[in-house]
Amino acid sequence: MYTNISAPPDLSQQLYSHAKDVSLLKKELDSALLKIARTEFEVLMKLSLVAEYKDTDTSVHIHRIGYMAELLCLLMKQPPEFCFLMRLAAPMHDVGKLGIPDHILQKPGKYDDAERNIMNQHPAIGAKILDISNHTLFQLAAKIALSHHEKYDGSGYPYGLAGDNIPFVGRSVAIVDFYDALTMDRCYRKAFSDEEGLEMLKAQEGTHFDPDMIEVFIKHHQNH
Ligand SMILES: [Fe+2]
Ligand SMILES: [Fe+2]
Repeated sequence: MYTNISAPPDLSQQLYSHAKDVSLLKKELDSALLKIARTEFEVLMKLSLVAEYKDTDTSVHIHRIGYMAELLCLLMKQPPEFCFLMRLAAPMHDVGKLGIPDHILQKPGKYDDAERNIMNQHPAIGAKILDISNHTLFQLAAKIALSHHEKYDGSGYPYGLAGDNIPFVGRSVAIVDFYDALTMDRCYRKAFSDEEGLEMLKAQEGTHFDPDMIEVFIKHHQNH
């Protein structure tokens, strides 16, 4: 009967060695994909640095943003793997500034309406640059880039989203970006102290920033 039929030894041997080949190939493919993802990440980090140099002349900011975004997400009880991805993705939030002409980006005074309109395109430009890959990291970075200038009361850009309609990742990066920018030296002013920075954040809770996030962010600073 059929139950007694078994594959000839050479056939099962062949199947076994094919299976080994397939698993080897898969390992090679996985490591090649990882290398590509790493290269993409490095290229995009470099682009973020270039964008940052064009604007504020400092590279420290983008790295601090990553660590602070990770911390804020941990404080908001997000899964650690996700928070780690935030550390990598948040530094790319302003990569879209690469698409903004220098004379606007580096203008010392206030923008007129036309200049403001151009400047406000940097979230969409950034999202387009970062959308080069389906990798989770870049999709996350694209989401951050697109939403980091939305405001909690709906007065931000590009879409005027309000409250929880703003992606969580955009709400968190908005806070750490603002705070870090305040507490570092700029060409036109000295850095504000940590306390002043926190007060300025607090003053905009519920208007610019998510009040729950502001609460945990300030509480953490007060305890450390
Ligand atoms: Fe920005
Ligand atoms: Fe920034």
